[in-house]
Amino acid sequence: MIRFNSLSKVWPDGTQAVANVSLSIGRGQFCVILGPSGAGKSTLLRAVNGLMKPTQGSVSIDGVQLSAASERVLRQRVAMIHQHFNLTDRMSVAGNVLAGLLPVVSTARALLGWFRPEHRTKACKLLQNVGLSPTHLQRRAGELSGGQQQRVGIARAFMLDPEVVLADEPVASLAPKISRDILTLIRDAARERGTTVLCSLHQIDLAREFGDRIVGMRDGQVVFDGTPAEFTDARVRALYHGAQWDDQPTRLRASGNSTQEHDLPEPALA
Ligand SMILES: Nc1ncnc2c1ncn2[C@@H]1O[C@H](COP(=O)(O)OP(=O)(O)O)[C@@H](O)[C@H]1O
Ligand SMILES: [Mg+2]
Repeated sequence: MIRFNSLSKVWPDGTQAVANVSLSIGRGQFCVILGPSGAGKSTLLRAVNGLMKPTQGSVSIDGVQLSAASERVLRQRVAMIHQHFNLTDRMSVAGNVLAGLLPVVSTARALLGWFRPEHRTKACKLLQNVGLSPTHLQRRAGELSGGQQQRVGIARAFMLDPEVVLADEPVASLAPKISRDILTLIRDAARERGTTVLCSLHQIDLAREFGDRIVGMRDGQVVFDGTPAEFTDARVRALYHGAQWDDQPTRLRASGNSTQEHDLPEPALA
């Protein structure tokens, strides 16, 4: 379980990116983070792999505070899928997937391409699972289409069977039809292994389709937390435009997964 305990981040320029967020995300959950640009989604995700040091509060995974977990251990347990794929373009597809082993393999071995046969077999199997054929293995990653590159990114992320996968806008650079395929691959790979997924998205329809749970952020705060069915059009408007909540009492009911209720955003002035 991932637990955010009163997490806040104020950047040195004074920007409050995350404001006192408390959330618990159960093992194996596909949790979608939605919200306007600048809401704090990426900052929140980056707190889970130690890339962002919180100003206040903490994050724990299965009861272990991240500040106590070594970076190396953390990188084995938490993998990331990026909007712009973050592949090494000049390296082969196989090499990029094997790079998912870097937390456990020395850089020298990786540079020399010395990987164990079982690791190579695993990389091939993962590539097959994301729909890439053996003919892709030795191609340079930079030659592939965006959708294919993200498939490589998914295979790389699952190379060490992480407990948590952070996907920061994984389909924001892709066409809608491909987006659905890519999210299906992430969801299926996670389900097979019981991996928890924290995935930020822009598309409401995809959030509703893929999320077991939707967390809506605005101005660094969690302003919605519930199931896709509870994420009504009025709540979508409230999340993006700060519109008056027209179908709810003054506080948003927290879902069964959440540990606390959250204040509603201020309604926009007419
Ligand atoms: N490294 C940084 N330094 C200063 N401000 C930052 C940094 N990263 C993000 N921010 C600011 O923090 C806020 C939240 O950003 P971010 O988490 O990237 O939001 P989102 O992913 O929802 O678009 C924004 O105002 C952004 O400009
Ligand atoms: Mg972002």
